[in-house]
Amino acid sequence: MRVTIFGASGLLGKALISNWTGDAVTGLGSRDADIRAAERVRQVVQETRPEWIVLAAAYTDVDGCEGNPELAFAVNRDGAVNVATAAKEFGARLLFLSSDYVFDGKKTTPYESEDSRNPQSVYGRTKAEAEIRLLELMPDCCIVRTSWLFGVGGKCFPDTILKLAAGRPALDVVNDQRGCPTYVVDLAGAITQLCRRSACGIVHVTNAGDCTWFEFAQQIVRSAGLATTVRPVSSQRMARPAPRPAYSVLSPTRLQALGIEMPSWRDALGRYLELRPK
Ligand SMILES: NC(=O)c1ccc[n+]([C@@H]2O[C@H](COP(=O)([O-])OP(=O)(O)OC[C@H]3O[C@@H](n4cnc5c(N)ncnc54)[C@H](OP(=O)(O)O)[C@@H]3O)[C@@H](O)[C@H]2O)c1
Repeated sequence: MRVTIFGASGLLGKALISNWTGDAVTGLGSRDADIRAAERVRQVVQETRPEWIVLAAAYTDVDGCEGNPELAFAVNRDGAVNVATAAKEFGARLLFLSSDYVFDGKKTTPYESEDSRNPQSVYGRTKAEAEIRLLELMPDCCIVRTSWLFGVGGKCFPDTILKLAAGRPALDVVNDQRGCPTYVVDLAGAITQLCRRSACGIVHVTNAGDCTWFEFAQQIVRSAGLATTVRPVSSQRMARPAPRPAYSVLSPTRLQALGIEMPSWRDALGRYLELRPK
């Protein structure tokens, strides 16, 4: 199978490139093809002739999106439409990466694929609008919603916590946002399986289990054997430009129906800590 990955230089993209074996994979960063440039996107799809395109490219700075909505929509929604248009023209299937931020966080039980979108941030709106446009353009596309990514090779929450914990006796971490941490290596494996199984529609893919950022930080510090105290605080104390959903646990029902099981986030964190350069 030939696969073309947009966003190959990002956290997930790097994991896709290093873990995807057995197929002919082409990875593209923004310097190879800016997804805002429709003609360039068309050209690279024509050249690489993929059976599957994985669209992991996005403007992912959630707070940055709040201050620069034009750029956010240009990349995350209109760029995605450019990729889908080229995919359609050249007969490629498309797997698009979306986010738990398409939900408002008001539920108290896991979000199912078919639950209504109600994004609260600019970033969430760009992803929600992209999903709608892509499903109109390519009803057989596969939309993978994921959350709280971590991995080696980019900025992520465990890395930040470990760097901060190394120099401080105590850390304050928010305890009123609950979600599912996701190791990019496990997500990359699931994406490969979804393409091989010819999946379509909306699928939620995260590591199993959920926690708050505080609980996640506690586990990170504990697993790394550090003595730093982690203190729970409310998000009001840590105000940021973009609102975050209070609850964005994604249900794996559809993923499991496709025969794919994800390891727990605690297991994934252990494997990440073993690999992370000390
Ligand atoms: N990180 C999370 O917690 C999280 C949660 C839910 C969903 N997601 C989604 O999962 C996907 C992967 O996230 P990630 O954390 O791996 O992202 P990331 O590390 O921020 O990487 C973003 C990628 O997008 C590329 N990119 C940015 N602007 C582009 C443009 N205009 N044209 C072409 N490429 C462009 C970057 O290329 P260059 O580096 O070459 O500029 C990079 O390869 C994204 O769709 C993201 O929205 C992420």
